[in-house]
Amino acid sequence: MRIGLVVGNWKMNGGLASNAKLLARLADDWRGEVPRRLAVCVPAPYLAQTQAALGDSPVAWGVQDVSEHAAGAYTGEVSAAMAAEFGCRYAIVGHSERRRLHGESDLIVAAKAGAALDAGLVPIACVGEALAERERGETGRVVTRQVDALVAGLGDRVRECVVAYEPVWAIGTGRTATPAEAEDVHALLRKRLAEAGTGDVTLLYGGSVKAANAGSLFAMPDVDGALVGGASLDADEFLGIARA
Ligand code: 13P
Repeated sequence: MRIGLVVGNWKMNGGLASNAKLLARLADDWRGEVPRRLAVCVPAPYLAQTQAALGDSPVAWGVQDVSEHAAGAYTGEVSAAMAAEFGCRYAIVGHSERRRLHGESDLIVAAKAGAALDAGLVPIACVGEALAERERGETGRVVTRQVDALVAGLGDRVRECVVAYEPVWAIGTGRTATPAEAEDVHALLRKRLAEAGTGDVTLLYGGSVKAANAGSLFAMPDVDGALVGGASLDADEFLGIARA
C-alpha cells in the first residue's frame, strides 16, 4: 500500500541520555497531524528504550538491519524476530553502507527482506547507484538490477515492502538529488514494480534530506516520503521534514 512516510535512520549514533530527549520530543510533538507516518530506526541496543518512550505515541520504530537467518550460530547478528519482540514495525535492509562496508549482495538483501517479512516487519529495502555509476550513465541499470533481485527473491511479497532510493553520492554529502533526478528514478522503480504486479509500493527518497528541501521532493508524484540520516538526529529538523 502506498503511504506517506518519513523514517529516521539514526545509523550508529545516540546514547541513552540524548535518545531520551529526542524520543520524548517526537512522542510529545508528533500527533500524526498530516497524512504522513513517522518512524525511527535506532541501533538495536536502544530498542527497549525506544519502545518505552514511543509505545503510546503514533511514532513507529524499527531496526537498521536484520540477519537473513532465523536463529542460530551467527555471532553478533540480530534476528527479525528479536526486533519484532521489541515492537518494531520496520527493518531497513540493504542500506548502501551495509552493501559497501559489509559486502551485502542483492541476493542477501532480498533474503533479509524475506526474513523481516517472515517476522511480521515491513522491510525498507534500499537501492541506489554510486557516483561513478551515475557518471557512466548506469543509474537505471543499477537500480533495476537491485529491485529485480528483490522481486525475484520475494515474489508477490514485494508488495509488502517499502523501497528507498538512496543515491550513494547524496548520502551524508549535503548534495541532494534534485526533485527531478529523484522523480526520474522513482518513476523507473514504480514502472518496474508495476511490471512485477505491484505499482503501489511506498517509495522513499534518501540522501541529504533536510526540512528545507523536503517539500520540493515530496511534491514529486512518485516520491512518497523520505529516509533521513543526519537530520533525523535533530528533533526540529526531523519534525520539519515530517511536516513539509
Ligand atoms: P543523510 O540524510 O545523512 O544523507 O543519510 C541518508 C541515509 O543514508 C538514510 O538512510
